[in-house]
Amino acid sequence: NKISKVFRGTIIHSLEINNVEILQNAALGVGESGSIVFLKRDVADDQVFGEIAKEYSFTDSQVVNLGKKFLIPGFIDTHAHAPQYHNAGTGTDLPLLKWLEKYTFPVESKFRELKFARDVYTKVVDRMLKNGTTTCCYFATIHLDATLLLADIVGERGQRAFIGKVCMDRNSPDHYVETTEQSIQSTKQYIEELNKRGNPLVQPIITPRFAPTCTDHLLKELGVIAKDKGTMIQSHISENIDEVAWVKSIFPELKSYTDVYKHFDLLNKKTIMAHAIHLSDEELDTFEKCEAGISHCPVSNFTLGSGAMDVRKVLRKNIKLGLGTDISGGYSSSILTVIKDSLKCSNSIFFHDKSHTPLSYEEAFYLATVGGSKVVELSDRIGNFLPGKEFDAQVIDPFSANSPFDVFEADTTHDIFQKFIFNGDDRNVDSVYVKGRKVI
Ligand code: GUN
Ligand code: ZN
Repeated sequence: NKISKVFRGTIIHSLEINNVEILQNAALGVGESGSIVFLKRDVADDQVFGEIAKEYSFTDSQVVNLGKKFLIPGFIDTHAHAPQYHNAGTGTDLPLLKWLEKYTFPVESKFRELKFARDVYTKVVDRMLKNGTTTCCYFATIHLDATLLLADIVGERGQRAFIGKVCMDRNSPDHYVETTEQSIQSTKQYIEELNKRGNPLVQPIITPRFAPTCTDHLLKELGVIAKDKGTMIQSHISENIDEVAWVKSIFPELKSYTDVYKHFDLLNKKTIMAHAIHLSDEELDTFEKCEAGISHCPVSNFTLGSGAMDVRKVLRKNIKLGLGTDISGGYSSSILTVIKDSLKCSNSIFFHDKSHTPLSYEEAFYLATVGGSKVVELSDRIGNFLPGKEFDAQVIDPFSANSPFDVFEADTTHDIFQKFIFNGDDRNVDSVYVKGRKVI
């Protein structure tokens, strides 16, 4: 594996939850295949340009000196609706079910027009990358053509993604619904077409919108397809109290919302369920047993007034947990905003229950990187900078021309990193890499 680039300087990543490793004087070698060949901690210049250069056969000109910048892993957004980016920052005045009807279904129905789709999809992917999101789990719409178009745009731009054609065959408006047969057929065709494109970074994901908009027949068939093709699965669960009651009334014979997905073979280690706010302990036990993952979407949950998810309950059970923007239930396409709201969410639980240990920002950073990599079943490839993984990274510049925060002489590297997490934004994102390819 020939070296293409060596990053020299400060490198920050998570190994375990609550353990952010801040490496100064590090050197990280990226191979031509895009994977990480070596990570050397605390090495002097003469070692980098001497014995290390000799061992791995690279020249001085291949070394990138980070200077005052630092390297962190790319963020992983485990739940986002690409078409809803059109509405991000608007329509924030209604709870989930009314919000879907008034704002969300109408905008998604417009993606039957490819010209409209191209405009929004180009902008959302560019925005996500600028924010340092190197992996994203996207819901598209019910439209096959537009969903493939999103996959092509993501592929061109070089992002890593799971992209789902949304399935919904009931309880949806007349202008935005499929028949059961259409939904099954276009899902199969979508997987076939996407696989033909042969981009290993862009994968299909089975996407029943949520149980209320899918008939038993559709849910059953999607479970079969997911098993046959070995694909990931994404949906929503237990986001809003009225939604939970609705599911109970539609599936009276099943024990719980979680049981609905489990019953149709849609809850396993390849599953990502967004929100999961109002799950019972028994349902969480089922998540643990099935090894299904959860996407925590606090920006959305605060904006739509859905509730505060208890991260500690999830983490205690060893359930895989990542962060999601849930654009546009969430107004922000930045995982940094989600990190901050995950802290506020946990603090709000602590306010009422002093036995709850508030989430730390280090833990939230872990969830945004390593946690997410586990949720998407790619922890052997992404999430941090351990050798053998693929190089998905952001170069952060705390001194960029219009940085939104200031650094003072007494600030340690740890302080600067924390300032970036709390006050930083895309103005500090100098460059972004996915599998070694520079995409920003
Ligand atoms: N539940 C079903 N569809 C949606 C959606 O588009 N956004 C959110 N936040 N929840 C949903
Ligand atoms: Zn969502």
